[in-house]
Amino acid sequence: MDPATLSAARDAIHRAGHIVFFTGAGMSAESGIPTFRDALTGLWERFDPALLASAEGFESDPELVWGWYEWRRQKVMQAAPNAGHRAIAAFTTNVRPRAVHVVTQNVDDLHERAGSEDVVHLHGSILAPRCFACATPAPPELINMIPDEPEGGRRLRPPPCALCGGPVRPGVVWFGESLPSAAFDRATRLAQTADTFVVVGTSGVVEPAASLVRRAGRQGAAVIVVDPNLSASNREATCWLEGSAGDVLPALLDVR
Ligand code: APR
Repeated sequence: MDPATLSAARDAIHRAGHIVFFTGAGMSAESGIPTFRDALTGLWERFDPALLASAEGFESDPELVWGWYEWRRQKVMQAAPNAGHRAIAAFTTNVRPRAVHVVTQNVDDLHERAGSEDVVHLHGSILAPRCFACATPAPPELINMIPDEPEGGRRLRPPPCALCGGPVRPGVVWFGESLPSAAFDRATRLAQTADTFVVVGTSGVVEPAASLVRRAGRQGAAVIVVDPNLSASNREATCWLEGSAGDVLPALLDVR
């Protein structure tokens, strides 16, 4: 991490009255949750993640898709927040009354478990399965149960909805589906009013989420990108802190 860039980013953080953290899969990578575009392994090796994560994929092979999501839900339930999640939560507490918000594309609850209280979830939650047909939430015994899935994956029949008998599906937003409008509207307003917009671990290629980075940059926010790799988000960046979330965020936010 270049010290001059880190110092410029820290200045932007100190000056800001309203800071938004916008996070993606890289935020949870150090907690052991594979990013979406990591090579798929085991049973799913030869499948396109964009197909597995779609209503079409679920309709054509529900057992393959449900097995994949139950394996991912297990990973989330067994994971712990990393130093990056903890730094954001501690920073939010330390800098009150300045406004700090977290907008995430992640379907895990690691920000909340680190202590962030008000997290906008753009892509739903893997912890909230619901009926594919009638949207009734899955019963608590399913939601609270930690899956016990083999590392190489397996096909798994989705349980039936208690109300209509339809198949239960993951509570995430799939490719081709609309984002929850209240969450996206709120995230849009936050991007429009942020002084500093910190983009952590997102490739910036999935729309409309990625449009929030452009929106923040165009209305004049300092855009700080935290990522070990060059990503599409860097096009809007005021500065790029090259490194992992768990290394960079504690240094950026002065929380250790
Ligand atoms: N710290 C920070 N960034 C990291 C780390 C890390 N330890 N490890 C990887 N990254 C970066 C990668 O370099 C990449 O830029 O995280 C980014 C992950 O990109 P994607 O896997 O494309 O994830 P994301 O941008 O969140 O995807 C958006 O698409 O997959 C769907 O709905 C899913 O919410 C997801 C959305």
